[in-house]
Amino acid sequence: MKIPDIIIAVDGYSSTGKSTFAKRIASEFSFLYLDSGALYRAVTLYAIEHGIISPSGEIDRQALGRALPGLDIHFEAKEDGSRTYIGGKCVEKEIRTLAVSEKVSPIATVPEVRSFVDERLREFGKKKRVVMDGRDIGTTVFPEAELKIFMVADTAVRARRRADEMIRRGENVNLEEVMKNIKERDFIDSHREVSPLKKAEDAVVLDNSAMTIDEQMVWLRHLISEKFSVKETD
Ligand code: DC
Repeated sequence: MKIPDIIIAVDGYSSTGKSTFAKRIASEFSFLYLDSGALYRAVTLYAIEHGIISPSGEIDRQALGRALPGLDIHFEAKEDGSRTYIGGKCVEKEIRTLAVSEKVSPIATVPEVRSFVDERLREFGKKKRVVMDGRDIGTTVFPEAELKIFMVADTAVRARRRADEMIRRGENVNLEEVMKNIKERDFIDSHREVSPLKKAEDAVVLDNSAMTIDEQMVWLRHLISEKFSVKETD
């Protein structure tokens, strides 16, 4: 299927399968995939390692403000997706731990952090043929994106998915803790003052609670063919 050079914004709650879906879109249609949450996670990892956020979650806003301008956080594109770096160090594994997940939503409420991330994300949008997942891609980062998808799924399904992902990475998992973390992040992400998580008016909702990834791709091809008048068989 040939689709035009567009930006695809995939937003939604945590663990709704945004990255699996966005990665699959990237590989099927030769798009560049970018995980905006990875940048928030990298800032959070840096803040934890430098004592900018305390174990109880207090953020030293001044220290964070001083650190951001000199912070080298970037993506490096690889054939199977991009990797997140802080300076010369790949932190892809470290940013996915529960320790980072527990602190990332409060860090992502800080306006200076959001501008820092947005600036880096918008650089990639110039290229077009980009699929980016996050919370505010269709509302704030790329309000002009030609295709916006808003993903939702049952909380229990999401907790199971997140737990399976952690088990695959060899982490110890307590399903109740994972569920608690998901609920807390839903609340913080959708209630923060700057760019809260919400569906863009022109976004299409995808509830994938009971859908396989192949079924989601069938849904997407159908949507694209209608919206951009391209044939699914081309
Ligand atoms: O997608 P994720 O779970 O890796 O995202 C981690 C956190 O980053 C999420 O809890 C909220 C924040 N985030 C955000 O505020 N805006 C985005 N565009 C992406 C992520």
